Amino acid sequence: MSGTRKVALVTGGRRGIGRAIAYALAGHGFDVVINDAVRDQNAQETLEGIASRGTQGVFVQGDIADLAAHERLIADVWDAFGPVSCMVNNAGVQTAFRGDMLNIPPESLDRLLDVNVRGTFFLTQRMARRMIAEPSDEPTHPDRSIIFISSGNAVIATPGQADYCISKAGIAMMSSLYALRLAEHGIAVHEIRPGIIKTDMTADVFDKYDGWVKARGFPQARWGEAEDIGRTVGVLAAGLLPYVTGGAYHVDGGMHIRRT
Ligand code: NAI
Repeated sequence: MSGTRKVALVTGGRRGIGRAIAYALAGHGFDVVINDAVRDQNAQETLEGIASRGTQGVFVQGDIADLAAHERLIADVWDAFGPVSCMVNNAGVQTAFRGDMLNIPPESLDRLLDVNVRGTFFLTQRMARRMIAEPSDEPTHPDRSIIFISSGNAVIATPGQADYCISKAGIAMMSSLYALRLAEHGIAVHEIRPGIIKTDMTADVFDKYDGWVKARGFPQARWGEAEDIGRTVGVLAAGLLPYVTGGAYHVDGGMHIRRT
């Protein structure tokens, strides 16, 4: 147990955006519990990256879609460093079905809802109950937050990945709802909508997105880096933006702006 440092949980934190979030939080002085469904060398590297930034990391394996495992998962998180003051809901999956939405099979939507919506909602529910019951050591750690990583696709409709869009729109509403419910407990809730970020998730559509970047298809035409998301989470989690909750932050180079 670290005692005096703030504690964060990052789901899906072994690589990609989750790893960059973990590093940014470590930079802001958080000890970080990394959750992921997969434990591999990436996870080990992420823990080492946290340690090199001067705080501690612990890995807790678990599939957020497995509701029966949530009780143990949250208990393990608490056992690692004590009360959590920041939860980042980053774990998510992309559709395995890219194509005409008229042909999406039910199991594709089911999978996305299971992980992105159902798993995220109920893990957050369990975490929120515990954060309320066992607050972190205020006033040393007054800024508590829950941060959802949704997607630009929460509001930008892409028919070729319709089931993913539907699941991310669900997270946007989830964020608003938790912001309303948890304000009285001093927990701010934020939603971040990344644009196109260079990670393993976008590797199979690299050419399509790269063409869009090169054609200057959106205002700040470059690939997003995982660190762009990490830095935004760090600012919110550190409480550097006071008097805000329920906001949605587009970290996308202006991709969401409607144009004529
Ligand atoms: P990624 O695939 O590199 O990383 C996702 C991590 O989540 C993986 O380590 C994976 O094992 C873990 N994960 C997946 N399902 C899980 C489950 N059921 N339980 C626990 N862990 C699980 O993807 P990336 O790009 O880092 O994405 C992170 C988040 O950002 C996702 O929610 C994604 O939808 C979102 N996002 C990503 C964008 C991008 O362009 N890469 C754009 C917009 C949103």
